[in-house]
Amino acid sequence: MSGVDPSQRVLSGMRPTGRLHLGHYHGVLKNWVRLQHEYECFFFVADWHALTTHYQDTRGIEQATQDMVIDWLASGINPGSATLFVQSQVVAHAELHLLLSMMTPLGWLERVPSYKDQQEKLTDKDLTTYGFLGYPLLQSADILLYRAGQVPVGADQVAHIEITREIARRFNHIYGREPDFEELAESACDKMGKKAAKLYRSLRKGYLESGDQEGLERAQALVKEQQNITLADRERLIGYLEGTGKVILPEPQALLTEAAKMPGLDGQKMSKSYGNTIGLREEADSVVTKLKRMPTDPARVRLSDPGTPEKCPVWQFHEVYSEQSVQDWARAGCTSAGIGCLECKQPVIDAVIAEQEQIIARAQPYEENPDMVRSILLEGAEKAEDDARQTLTEVRQAMGLSYR
Ligand code: TRP
Ligand code: SF4
Repeated sequence: MSGVDPSQRVLSGMRPTGRLHLGHYHGVLKNWVRLQHEYECFFFVADWHALTTHYQDTRGIEQATQDMVIDWLASGINPGSATLFVQSQVVAHAELHLLLSMMTPLGWLERVPSYKDQQEKLTDKDLTTYGFLGYPLLQSADILLYRAGQVPVGADQVAHIEITREIARRFNHIYGREPDFEELAESACDKMGKKAAKLYRSLRKGYLESGDQEGLERAQALVKEQQNITLADRERLIGYLEGTGKVILPEPQALLTEAAKMPGLDGQKMSKSYGNTIGLREEADSVVTKLKRMPTDPARVRLSDPGTPEKCPVWQFHEVYSEQSVQDWARAGCTSAGIGCLECKQPVIDAVIAEQEQIIARAQPYEENPDMVRSILLEGAEKAEDDARQTLTEVRQAMGLSYR
């Protein structure tokens, strides 16, 4: 079993909503593209999550998945760097969800803010279902299944990462205590060799007796460096440092995605529900029309009326798309009434169109050959399955369900 370093693993999921817009691109996908070079990344389509709210109408899910994944690929997500898959194609998510459900207090789920919020907001749906209540736990299973330490999410999802940490802690507390834990940890320590064992014991003693935090971190690093011990022993040694049991499911952290950089056409956050989006691969004509019609500072009734960029959604687009020199030109022209709004919009229009041309070109081979996408997702699911299997084997063992 190869060692997994949770701090180097990133996992994130997106519901299959079909084609994405520029808000997704600037807010989420560009971040994923960057992360895929720095971490071991798993990105998946959360199709079971879609069922928690859209169980009445499931027929669009496959097409929405296909369209969304093409947008991922066209944005620069590289299946050679990141593992891309569909949640329902890795059934291990369901097994871990079930096992965790046995030890998850109802109150924890009822307290998640999105539970009441969504029930109140989505009044056209009956969300008094078992699946909807369990949705944050399904998300916990998604994360813990891969022992992902880093989870890029927006602010609305932070509560779900928090409950995941609580679940992991509870799981480790209940099932991480093997009856002979001390003995196993001591013998794992010996396996590191004389010198490392001695150092480990003295650092552990320093931490347990006088709270030497730096010593704890050194000892953790020492354990992680060990090449010749099993993953199980490594986890025992990490757990033993703090006097607890074995860490079977490591606690993840939220990698908070910056607040939406991309405004919508009306200056609010770009979102389908506000009807203010520009599609990632929208036709150029339609993009130009939308941008030309976009509202500007209402103070600029006539060309001779000066404006205030801060009161104009076009300015926010300049902040995303324009270089400093163009921004300076727009600001000066706006406040002095030296340029008209259409003139001011032109560099933004050009930049959006140029960005989209690239994305559309990268999407084309996948559009022409949908089997390419299917095979990327199939390969991803196989890879994900391998990693998931390792965690589940340990989880089953810890729970006394390995039948060997
Ligand atoms: N719940 C997330 C959303 O609605 C999607 C999601 C599902 C997810 N599982 C996840 C995100 C695991 C991060 C990690 O946006
Ligand atoms: Fe907005 Fe530019 Fe018009 Fe000023 S000149 S109001 S920044 S579009």
